[in-house]
Amino acid sequence: MSTVDEHEKDMPSEDSGGKGPPPPDPEQKNKATAYVIFFFFVGLIASLIVGWIIFPQLLYSQKEQPIDFNHALHNELVGDCASCHYFREDGTFSGVPDLWSCIDCHMDVQGEDPEEEKFVTEYVWEDREVPWLIYSKQPDCVFFSHAAHVLSGGMDCVTCHGHIGESEHSKVYQENRITGYSRDIWGRNISGFKRNSWDRMKMDDCADCHEEARDSATKDEPRAPVGRVIDNIIRVAFPGTYADNRGGSVQTQRGACFKCHK
Ligand code: HEC
Ligand code: HEC
Ligand code: HEC
Ligand code: HEC
Ligand code: HEC
Repeated sequence: MSTVDEHEKDMPSEDSGGKGPPPPDPEQKNKATAYVIFFFFVGLIASLIVGWIIFPQLLYSQKEQPIDFNHALHNELVGDCASCHYFREDGTFSGVPDLWSCIDCHMDVQGEDPEEEKFVTEYVWEDREVPWLIYSKQPDCVFFSHAAHVLSGGMDCVTCHGHIGESEHSKVYQENRITGYSRDIWGRNISGFKRNSWDRMKMDDCADCHEEARDSATKDEPRAPVGRVIDNIIRVAFPGTYADNRGGSVQTQRGACFKCHK
């Protein structure tokens, strides 16, 4: 035992006159921490800029419409949307108009506007339809009916399309380079936040509105203020949790998929 005690006596101690290595300089330590924090924030800000600003710009290619079309001017001339965007007798929607809606007025160039001249000489005289780009074009598997929404539902074009119908110029069409879909479906904001009802038209956006319509038709209270996704999981996994017992979202009900998918 005594040998151990001898050793302990030999060990240099902090207050024994500083024969051992010097204690770490607290200023040096603070500097290192400051560097770590500094580079963490530089990295964070750089990745936020890449993810939120640069990536969305690279993700979408920009395409001009073949002809710049002035809605405001034509609305004044023809009066209403239905002269060009009308319902046929069988309830189908005409969509973007073909040359037939235009030739009454554009058999010949009537003004100075170069866009009109291009339209008349390159399309009307050539009897060639204008290959308009459709901002709201959904994938082929999606079934959408204007009659259900506009005629039965009484909804306004602006709710889903924004102010395209009042604009003076055709806006730039933005195409997602990966999926090939329009940005009007995928949304202005990469995280999916939207300020206007027309900013985004993905599956959830259709379903959210259908759910609101269902709730107001059945006079149900708005749903519990848990996140929508969590709320749905609870309702589907543990039926009976809520007194209203109305089941999951309109999307998870039996056969729900075939309402919107062909
Ligand atoms: C004189 C014919 C004409 C009239 C009137 C007219 N439009 Fe159009 N509309 C067009 C043409 C042509 C296009 C295709 C060019 C474009 O997208 O800019 C178009 C495109 C659109 C689109 C874009 C659809 C998509 O997803 O690409 C919307 C929305 C639209 N019109 C709404 C309206 C509304 C609302 C009104 C009435 C306030 C209206 N239009 C009046 C001719 C017309
Ligand atoms: C009621 C008559 C009328 C109809 C229908 C009509 N236009 Fe026009 N359009 C005009 C007039 C008038 C002008 C102005 C010409 C000028 O003075 O420059 C014009 C201008 C234009 C221009 C140049 C201004 C602009 O919009 O950029 C284009 C392009 C055009 N029309 C395309 C079309 C297309 C496409 C259709 C069919 C979907 C159509 N128009 C239907 C009367 C009409
Ligand atoms: C409930 C939402 C909603 C409302 C309301 C609505 N639309 Fe649409 N619209 C859509 C969707 C979704 C598409 C794409 C459909 C597709 O690709 O199958 C579309 C497509 C279109 C197109 C392009 C069709 C084509 O392929 O040629 C035009 C033009 C258009 N809508 C005009 C209008 C006008 C005008 C009104 C008002 C009378 C209106 N829409 C009301 C959702 C809506
Ligand atoms: C802003 C609200 C709103 C949006 C957005 C919306 N819908 Fe609807 N949808 C309705 C309402 C309300 C009805 C019922 C209309 C009626 O009274 O018949 C309906 C009905 C339908 C129907 C007919 C159902 C049936 O029983 O006949 C289909 C299909 C449909 N929507 C598909 C879609 C698709 C696909 C989208 C997205 C691209 C969409 N809807 C976006 C409100 C909306
Ligand atoms: C309220 C209408 C609606 C309902 C209900 C709905 N969908 Fe969709 N779905 C859409 C729309 C609109 C799109 C295209 C936009 C997108 O990708 O979000 C889509 C896209 C999809 C896609 C991707 C297709 C592609 O080409 O990008 C799949 C897969 C899909 N839905 C499966 C389902 C399944 C499974 C269900 C049932 C649980 C369902 N959907 C119910 C409207 C609906």
